[in-house]
Amino acid sequence: MATSNPDVPRNTIHLELGARSYDIHIGRGLLKEVGVELTRLQCAGKVGVVTDRNLAAYYLKPVTRVLKAAGYQVVPIVLPPGERTKTLRSIGTVMDALVNARFERSSTLLALGGGVIGDITGFAAAIYQRGIPFVQVPTSLVAQVDSSVGGKTGVDHPKGKNLIGAFNQPRAVLIDPATLRTLPDREWIAGLAEVIKYGVIEDEAFFEYLEQHIAPILDLSDVPVTHIVKRSCEIKAQVVSEDEREADRRRILNFGHTIGHALESLGGYRGLIHGEAVAVGMVYEADLARHLGYCDQNVVTRVRALIAAAGLPVRLPPNVPFHALWDAMQQDKKVSAGTVYCVVPERIGSVRIVPLEKAQTRAWYETVRVGDTGSRQRIPRKKQPR
Ligand SMILES: NC(=O)c1ccc[n+]([C@@H]2O[C@H](COP(=O)([O-])OP(=O)(O)OC[C@H]3O[C@@H](n4cnc5c(N)ncnc54)[C@H](O)[C@@H]3O)[C@@H](O)[C@H]2O)c1
Ligand SMILES: [Zn+2]
Repeated sequence: MATSNPDVPRNTIHLELGARSYDIHIGRGLLKEVGVELTRLQCAGKVGVVTDRNLAAYYLKPVTRVLKAAGYQVVPIVLPPGERTKTLRSIGTVMDALVNARFERSSTLLALGGGVIGDITGFAAAIYQRGIPFVQVPTSLVAQVDSSVGGKTGVDHPKGKNLIGAFNQPRAVLIDPATLRTLPDREWIAGLAEVIKYGVIEDEAFFEYLEQHIAPILDLSDVPVTHIVKRSCEIKAQVVSEDEREADRRRILNFGHTIGHALESLGGYRGLIHGEAVAVGMVYEADLARHLGYCDQNVVTRVRALIAAAGLPVRLPPNVPFHALWDAMQQDKKVSAGTVYCVVPERIGSVRIVPLEKAQTRAWYETVRVGDTGSRQRIPRKKQPR
């Protein structure tokens, strides 16, 4: 039986989904344990390591080394970095590599990367020979706190994000927070938007922790960074275990995303990356909730202040006409039968899902004075050298 290194302290979160249950392990240095973990999971034979060029430069060699040391035959599959890689064409590239290397039903895929790589790998694992096991090794903050947990996998279509995919749970998620040290600053801060989201939707004490520790978090201090990754995974695992297929409760994870996705899809605002758009979305969805009487101003003030303190944007881009925003909100997958649903806070730590009417949303929007909705944006402190 493989044994893990006692020098690598770890937290383990169990995601209960019956036969599809799995563990999420979090520990600094866990990357060195990937081979041992695959052995423990009884993965056999070949391992296809799917990654992107940025990640390959840092981590492909060491990960290949530990996998080989554990007796695996490693097939690296290196894709270009970025959202533009999340296509059926990349799925084709992965399929070609697996066929050429004669992967079998018992072979394993390992996703070494951010959300793009995790989503592609999970979908490829769902369809190669009708399904082979896969393990998530997320390296970006978005992937560590969000995309690697919960089993949503897939790729984009030219007409819309994430339109093609499958629910497919990994065998395990192995998170090494030390990989965040090589993540570009902008990607790291964007991931904090999803972390803040967990506090708003589910846990006021966690939100307070973020308010009090935002400076050491921005400095990438080990203890608070590991804590926020762990607490975020716990909340996501809990919500997913209650509603794996997003029939109802899982939709609370979309707080900030109704307006956030709309901003992302509005052609002129490609400048915002996902977490930044969600940050702006959370500020305005909280303000909309206040306008509709679901929460008081204090909720809006605290949400906006924490987002600003994290160095995230808090203002709508200028000149977004209401009809453009509303149309873009309707493109979102959370629209069912023509109704736009939105997650609104009632207080910090508790949200509900409500339908939005166009007229009341327009009335609120007319009260929003673009450019006058936030405190001055804080410039994030420079992180310590990595
Ligand atoms: N499946 C889900 O439930 C879910 C949830 C949230 C987001 N997503 C998806 O995730 C994607 C966004 O994920 P992302 O923000 O991780 O994007 P990403 O995978 O494109 O990674 C962002 C950038 O950071 C680089 N990078 C990642 N980790 C690094 C590291 N440790 N060191 C250096 N560079 C690193 C990548 O190469 C890339 O250039 C989107 O496609 C989104 O749809 C999926
Ligand atoms: Zn998101």
